Amino acid sequence: MTVKKIAVLTSGGDSQGMNAAVRAVVRSGLYHGLEVFAVQRGFAGLINDDIREMDLRSVGDIIQRGGTILQTARCKEFTTAEGQQLGAENLRKRGIDGLVVIGGDGSYQGANKLSKLGIKTMGLPGTIDNDIPFTDLTIGFDTAVSIVVDAINKIRDTMSSHERSSVVEVMGRHCGDIALYAGLASGAETILVPEVPFDLDEIATRMSENFALGKRHSIVIVAEGVGKGEEIANGITARNGIEPRVTVLGHIQRGGAPTHNDRILASNLGDFAVRKLIEGESGKGCGIMKGELVLTDMDKVISTKKEFNMELYELAKRLSQ
Ligand code: ADP
Ligand code: F6P
Repeated sequence: MTVKKIAVLTSGGDSQGMNAAVRAVVRSGLYHGLEVFAVQRGFAGLINDDIREMDLRSVGDIIQRGGTILQTARCKEFTTAEGQQLGAENLRKRGIDGLVVIGGDGSYQGANKLSKLGIKTMGLPGTIDNDIPFTDLTIGFDTAVSIVVDAINKIRDTMSSHERSSVVEVMGRHCGDIALYAGLASGAETILVPEVPFDLDEIATRMSENFALGKRHSIVIVAEGVGKGEEIANGITARNGIEPRVTVLGHIQRGGAPTHNDRILASNLGDFAVRKLIEGESGKGCGIMKGELVLTDMDKVISTKKEFNMELYELAKRLSQ
């Protein structure tokens, strides 16, 4: 049986491109003759029954905006069976039989629970961390990497003038992809990620040697999952006497206009999720792999750890001499 009324929500940490994804779900749903609803503040809105009907205009002028017009929340109550039942009930009483959840791995867990309660549910990977498996990219990652690269360009200017070293801490609690991609794209000397062990003695020695050989700057990019940038900088100073300047980029990485890549990814995935709901699919995560839109069982998505791209890591290492 296909869906007639669907809803969309954004959950967990926000990411640039979530609005473009909401727009795609709403417009694609309306295009296909569905009634489309929006839930405010993620799973909290499901529990509090904060649900409204959307029309074409309610998603106008948002494709270019960061953040999420639906707002987002971290909702403890929804991790309980009672909270999930209540959320499902609030959808059912309006006749809503399909739901698109845009968020990270935690949000996928919530979506999966709803699917098992009979709500036809689709997950869209909305997180800057790029830590969702079965998709090459998550919505927001491209923008976050661009922000980090832009910041490092600026940091590098002043580091080169003063012949200094810099430690830049970026987001990624469990996943080093922002550090890896931004590090490679900005020519960082050292990339520290939670997936790969490192030796600070070696890093400090290499830094001193490179300066002695005429290098004018040294950028160390650290994913927050590794530890604080300040601690890494102190460790370097203790070993080689160089005092790196520390920049913590923080939530700057999660705001601002999405890149065209994120807007296109969000548009494709939002439309794909709606079409798959209409075909009767449920309990699936949507992704893009090697240019193809793919569906994967949510159970599989949430029980699999995304593979780290060691080839890219080795490439960055080879090129950063
Ligand atoms: P993200 O989706 O960015 O990973 P969180 O991990 O904070 O963010 O998850 C977002 C929300 O998803 C949580 O606040 C909670 O409401 C819901 N959630 C997370 N884990 C579960 C779970 N195991 N069961 C049900 N809901 C969950
Ligand atoms: O969106 C994911 C993420 O950016 C992580 O890399 C980071 O640790 C976390 O969110 C911080 O989010 P918040 O400040 O909202 O808890």
